[in-house]
Amino acid sequence: MSKKIAVLAGDGIGPEVIAETLKVLHAVEEKFGAKFEFNEALIGGAAIDEKGKALPDETLELCKNCDAILLGAVGGDKWDKLPPEERPERAALLPLRKEFDLFANLRPVKVFPALANASTLKAEIIEGGFDIMIVRELTGGIYFGKKGKGNDWASDELKYSVPEIERVAKVAFEIAMKRGKKVCSVDKANVLSSMVLWRETVEKLAKEFPEIELSHMYVDNAAMQLVRNPKQFDVIVTGNMFGDILSDEASMISGSIGMLASASLREDSFGLYEPIHGSAPDIAGQNKANPMATILSAAMMLRHSFGMEKEAKAVETAVNAVLEEGFRTGDIMQKNCKQLGTKEIGDEIAKRV
Ligand code: IPM
Ligand code: MN
Repeated sequence: MSKKIAVLAGDGIGPEVIAETLKVLHAVEEKFGAKFEFNEALIGGAAIDEKGKALPDETLELCKNCDAILLGAVGGDKWDKLPPEERPERAALLPLRKEFDLFANLRPVKVFPALANASTLKAEIIEGGFDIMIVRELTGGIYFGKKGKGNDWASDELKYSVPEIERVAKVAFEIAMKRGKKVCSVDKANVLSSMVLWRETVEKLAKEFPEIELSHMYVDNAAMQLVRNPKQFDVIVTGNMFGDILSDEASMISGSIGMLASASLREDSFGLYEPIHGSAPDIAGQNKANPMATILSAAMMLRHSFGMEKEAKAVETAVNAVLEEGFRTGDIMQKNCKQLGTKEIGDEIAKRV
């Protein structure tokens, strides 16, 4: 039976990186006899221009009828003049996460050996590579707290409930069981009461996972430890805003934000898959964007939503092979490598699936 994918290309480089990802998914169909149904819909600025709304009802409806969502990127200068709550980032991405209850955001950060010297860290610090899974809570915390505004003040509430913390921590523990069995929970329990609850709840849940080595770290220290010694981490679990910040930091030490994929999952297999990077309006339409983060996000979709492990591996291996053979987009260009455009990199990856 064919898997239905909602394809939301969005703005800026979104359509370009999505086009290459579909190319790769077509290659998966041919190679493995899989069958995907691609259903395109508008989101973000593109949807504002056509439908007057960043997340049109028909887009939501379409997503509800699919098995997974593949998203490019949203936002751009053109819509930055809108009131903040109408901008694509807030009016499309956040409600989409909330509507589908996509509470567990998986952001794998690892060093591709071929890109080791693209990292901003000294070679000796990343030698041998690292492999971190950031599990970010995605539908709660300060992003979705009550907002207040007076004449000369504004506020955002940071609130977490025990079930919200438990479910995301459980995802982190389960992932860790399949990896290095280490979880570092990142909070700010020295200052914030919501984070005291976070720490207590994670601590309690850990009793159900006796094999896991659990540690706790304050977020400021975690930010520092990530650049001091990233190899100490296996799985990191943290709240919405801390996860947002730490994952950008982690992406840079792995080489380029153009390489980082993500999966946003709910309790069942439904998920939203998108690159961590934004819409990069400065390079949009120029065949310069790196499509690898989106292609690797599609690999996560194959794995997490469709249970297609060997197909996911084939895509990841193809990306790796292209890097090993010296093909690069501008963001990860290195000496003695061959720089290619978005489309050409997509071709090279599709060929190797
Ligand atoms: C991310 C992005 C979003 C976030 C923005 C665009 C709303 O930075 O997915 O990391 O803050 O969650
Ligand atoms: Mn972010």
